[in-house]
Amino acid sequence: MRYQGREVDIEGRVRLVMESALTARDRVGVQDFVLLENYNSEAAFIENLRRRFGENLIYTYIGSVLVSVNPYKELEIYSKQQMERYRGVSFYEISPHIYALSDNTYRAMRTERKDQCILISGESGAGKTETSKKILLYYAVTCPTNDHMPALGERLLQSNPVLEAFGNAKTFRNDNSSRFGKYMDVQFDFRGAPVGGHILNYLLEKSRVIHQNHGERNFHIFYQLLDGGEDDLLTTLGLERNPQSYQYLVKGNCPRLSSVSDKNNWKVVMKALSVIGFTEEEVQKLLNIIASVLHLGNTQFGEGEEGETYITTETKITNLTKLLGVDGSALGEALTHKKLTAKGEEMITPLSFEQAVSARDALAKAVYGRTFTWLVEKINQSLALKEEIYHSGKGCSVIGLLDIYGFEVLQHNSFEQFCINYCNEKLQQLFIELTLRSEQEEYETEGIAWETVQYFDNKIICDLIEEKHKGIISILDEECLRPGETCDVSFLEKLEDTLGGHPHFVTHKLANGKTRRVMSREEFRLLHYAGEVNYNVNGFLDKNNDLLNRNLKEVMCQSDNQILSHCFRKEEAIDQKRPEMAATQFKNSLTKLMEILMSKEPSYVRCIKPNDAKQPGRFDEVLVRHQVKYLGLMENLRVRRAGFAYRRRFEAFLQRYKPLCPETWPNWHGRLSDGVSTLVNHLGYKAEEYKLGRSKIFIRFPKTLFNTEDALEAKKPDIALTLQTSWRGYRERAKYQRIRRAVIVIQSGWRGMKARRRAKRRRQAAELIRRLIKGFIYRHEEFCPENEYFHDHVRYSFLKNLRKNLPKSVLDKSWPTPPPSLIEASDHLRRLHMRNMVTKYCHRVQPEWKKQMMQKVVASEIFKDEKDSYPQGVGRLFLDSRLEREQINLKVVQTLGSEKVQYAVTVVKYDRRGFKPRPRQLLLTNTFAVLVDRTKIKQRIDYAALRGISVSSLSDGMFVLHMPNEDNKQKGDVVLHCHHVIEVVTKLSMMASKVNYVNISPGSIRFVVSRGKEGFIDFVRGSELKVAKGKRGHLLVTAPQINTA
Ligand SMILES: Nc1ncnc2c1ncn2[C@@H]1O[C@H](COP(=O)(O)OP(=O)(O)O)[C@@H](O)[C@H]1O
Ligand SMILES: [Mg+2]
Repeated sequence: MRYQGREVDIEGRVRLVMESALTARDRVGVQDFVLLENYNSEAAFIENLRRRFGENLIYTYIGSVLVSVNPYKELEIYSKQQMERYRGVSFYEISPHIYALSDNTYRAMRTERKDQCILISGESGAGKTETSKKILLYYAVTCPTNDHMPALGERLLQSNPVLEAFGNAKTFRNDNSSRFGKYMDVQFDFRGAPVGGHILNYLLEKSRVIHQNHGERNFHIFYQLLDGGEDDLLTTLGLERNPQSYQYLVKGNCPRLSSVSDKNNWKVVMKALSVIGFTEEEVQKLLNIIASVLHLGNTQFGEGEEGETYITTETKITNLTKLLGVDGSALGEALTHKKLTAKGEEMITPLSFEQAVSARDALAKAVYGRTFTWLVEKINQSLALKEEIYHSGKGCSVIGLLDIYGFEVLQHNSFEQFCINYCNEKLQQLFIELTLRSEQEEYETEGIAWETVQYFDNKIICDLIEEKHKGIISILDEECLRPGETCDVSFLEKLEDTLGGHPHFVTHKLANGKTRRVMSREEFRLLHYAGEVNYNVNGFLDKNNDLLNRNLKEVMCQSDNQILSHCFRKEEAIDQKRPEMAATQFKNSLTKLMEILMSKEPSYVRCIKPNDAKQPGRFDEVLVRHQVKYLGLMENLRVRRAGFAYRRRFEAFLQRYKPLCPETWPNWHGRLSDGVSTLVNHLGYKAEEYKLGRSKIFIRFPKTLFNTEDALEAKKPDIALTLQTSWRGYRERAKYQRIRRAVIVIQSGWRGMKARRRAKRRRQAAELIRRLIKGFIYRHEEFCPENEYFHDHVRYSFLKNLRKNLPKSVLDKSWPTPPPSLIEASDHLRRLHMRNMVTKYCHRVQPEWKKQMMQKVVASEIFKDEKDSYPQGVGRLFLDSRLEREQINLKVVQTLGSEKVQYAVTVVKYDRRGFKPRPRQLLLTNTFAVLVDRTKIKQRIDYAALRGISVSSLSDGMFVLHMPNEDNKQKGDVVLHCHHVIEVVTKLSMMASKVNYVNISPGSIRFVVSRGKEGFIDFVRGSELKVAKGKRGHLLVTAPQINTA
C-alpha cells in the first residue's frame, strides 16, 4: 500500500515518514532512528524496531551504526543480486542492510586508504557471528581477486565452519554460540582484492570441555565426530557412536540438536579443513586429540585403603596413551601423582581422589584449549599475506571484523561471564569514545559550535575491574599468588575490603536488605553499564590459575603427536617462572585489541535478539528494551541527535533536493554551499532549523527534512516528465548524431574515391599529353623511346580513323592521308581493300550483269573516245532484245529452224543506190544475222563472211556491214540505221567475233554498192539527225551535237 510508511499528521496531511523514495515495503517506520521525532522516547524507539521487524525489515540505522534484529529465519535478502544492488551506493539511497555497511566500509578503506574495523556486538544469540559471516561473504563475492591469492576468499569463508566446530557449542541461548572471541583482519591489496587474513582468538571457554549446564552441549566437534565419522575412523580412535558413553558429553543431557545436523556439518568441516590446507596427517592428529579428550573424560579413579588414588579404567588408558602419543605408565603416574620441588629436591607425592580428578580435567582443558590455539595459528598460516604481496611496496589496507561474545547474564555467572562482561565494558568505552570523538571531530571540521551531550561514561566500571592494585583482576591475581590458605571466599572478603563503597560494586554483606535477599553469600554484584550481574566466586581462583601439574606437562612434552608437542613446549616444563594468570592474560590481550581497534576507523553493528525462544516473528519487548538499554542505543541516538538530526554533504543534499528550487534545477553551477543556501532559502528554512558547515548541511529537526521530502515527493511527476523529455531528446539527438556521423563518413569516403579517381585520370592525361608533346618534338627523329608513343598514337589514330572512313564503293576514290611512317602500309591496305571490294563486287554480280558488263567493256573498247554518242549510249542498259518474241513473225522463226534468235532490233535499211529507207528487223543468231521484212527474210549475213562494220564518229545511228567483195551472191555492203547503234554493233561484233573489225570513220564511210562500185556516206554535225541524199550521190547524215559536258 502506498500509505504504508506514511502518517497522517495534525493537519490531516499525508506525510512521508521516510526520507528517501524507496519501495512502499521499505517505508515502514523510519530507516534511521535519527529521524525519529521523539528521539528521547525509548518506547518510540522500540516501536520503530518492532514495526520494521514485523515486516522482516531487520536492519535500521542510527546514523552510521547499523542495528540488526535477529530474524531467526532465512530471509531472501542475501543473494548475489542484493549484493550488486548495494555496490557503490550510499547509505540513504537504499534500504538499510549489512551489505550497505560492508560496502561503505570497503569504499572508505579504498578511497581514504585508512584501515577500517567493523565491531559487531550484542548478546549471545543476537546474530553477531551470522552478521560477520555475511560481511565476509560480501567481500568474498564482490571484491576483485588477486592473481597470487585466487582462493583466498574461499579460505576466508571456510575458516568459519572449522572455527565454529571447535569453538562453538549449543548454549541455553544459542544453538551455535561462539565460545571464544574472534577478531579477524582481512587484508586488501591496492586494487581492493583480499590478499590475506589474520585471526586473533580470545578466551576460549575451556570449562565447557569438562562440564556443560543442563540443556547445553560440549563443543560441536565431539558430536560431529561421533555422528559423522566413518566406522573405520571411530574404530581406530577407539570410539563408540553414542555420545552418552562419554562423561564429558553427558553433563548437559543434550546429545542432539534439532536445528543442526552433526553428520552434515562433519562433512562440511572436513571439506573446509582440506580447503584451508590441512594435510590428511594433520587432520588425523587433530582427531586423535579430540578422541583422546573423550577417553580422558572416561578415565576413572579409585581410592585405595591407604587413601592412595589409582586408575580403575586401566584398559582405556592404553587407547588414550596411543592417541596422545605418550608413554602409558608415565601418563598414569602423572595423573595420580604430583611432582614438587622443595629445597632443590624433587619429591613425588600421591594425589587425592579429588586432586586426581581435577588434574585429569585440567589436562583435558589444556589439551583442548591449546589445540584450539594451534588450529587458529594453522588457519592464520593458510590465510597469511604472501611475502611478495607484502613487499610489493604498494601497502595493504585492512578491514577488521570483531565478533566477540556479547554481554552475558546467566543464572549462575562465573569467571567466564566476568571476563566476557569486562570485555563488553571495554568495547562500550571504545564505542563512546569513538562515537563522541567522531561526532566532535565532525563538528570541528565543519566549523560548528560543539554542544555537549549527556551520557553515561562507563570508565568507572572499567577501572573497577582493571585498575592496577585496586582492581578486581589485581586482587584476584594477588589472592592466587598469596602463600598460605587461599580460597574463593577469602578472595571475596578481600574484594569487600578493598572495593567496599564503590558505587558499582555490591556483595551480600555490603548490600541493603532488599538486594541482600536476591544475593547469595558467595556472590558479588557488579553494576555494569548494561545492567546488574551477580558473580559467584566459586572456581574463580582455580580458573584464574588455570594450572596444569608439572609432571603432566612433562609427559605431554614427550608426545609424538606433532600438534601436542607443538602445544606443550619443553621449555615450559622446565621453566620455574609462573605464567601469567588467566584474567591478566585476558586483560592484556584486550588492551592490545583496543589498541588495534583505536587505530582503525570503526563501524558498528548492534545485534539484538528479539526473543529467547529462537523463534521467528516473535518480538519480546521486555527483552529488546533491556538490550537497547545495555547496548546504549538510546545514548547513541542522543549523541547523534545532540545537535542535529540530519546531516548530509552539500553535493548529496543538492543532488537530491535541487528539483525543488528553480535556481538549482536542473543544475547548479556555482559553489555547492551557495547552491545549498539558495535551495534552503527557497524552501523557507528558518535560521534555527539548520546550519551550514564547511561541506555539510546540518538540519536540526526531522520535521524540516520530512517537509522537504514531502515537497520532493509532490514534485516527482514533474521531474519524471522533465527527465523523460530530456532523455528522449537525448536519445533522438544521439541517434541523429550517429546517423549524421555515418553519413559524413560515407560521403567523405565516396568523395575521396571520386577525387582520387579524377586525380588519377588527370595525372594520366597530363602524362599522356607530355608524352605526345615530346613525341611530337621528336617526330622526325629515328624511332626512339621519346617518340615511340607518339608514333604509335599517330598510327593508331590513323588506323582507327581509316576503319571508320574506308571507301564504301569501288568508285569511291577517297582515302585518308596516312602519316609518313604508314605510307607503305596504307598503300597496301588501300590495294587490299580495293581488291577486297572488287572481289566482293564480282561475287555479287549476276550472270546477266556479267554479260552486260562484258558487252559494255567491249563497247568501251570499240567506241570510247571514238564515237560521240558513246558516252550517252554506254550509260544505257544493253537489252537482251529490242523486240518481243511476238513481234517476230512465226514463219521467220520457223525458217530459222534450230538457230535461236539471240537479239532482235528494228533498223532502217538504206538502199545502196538511191538510199531509200526501208524498215527492217535485224535478228542475230549465234552464227548469222538476218534482215527481215515483216514475214520474209530479206538477207542472211553469215558472221564468218562479214568483213567489218563501220560507223561514224558522230552521234548518228548509221552503221555499215561490209560484206565480202568476191562473193557474187552478195549484193554489196549493207547500210543500216538504228537508234541503238552502239548496242547493236557491240552485240553483233561480239557474236561474230569481229570486234577488231569495227572501224570508226570520222568524216565519211566508204561502202561497196556492188562489184567495183563504191558509195559514200558523209557525216556532218548539225542541229538534229537528218539522213538525206547529198552531193555527188553521197548519203549525207547530219548528226546532232551531243552535249557531253
Ligand atoms: N541474519 C540472520 N538471518 C537468519 N538467521 C539468523 C540471522 N542472524 C542470526 N540468525 C540465527 O540466529 C542464530 C544465532 O546467531 P549467531 O550469529 O550465532 O549469534 P551470536 O554470534 O550473536 O551468538 C543463528 O544460528 C541463526 O539461526
Ligand atoms: Mg557467535
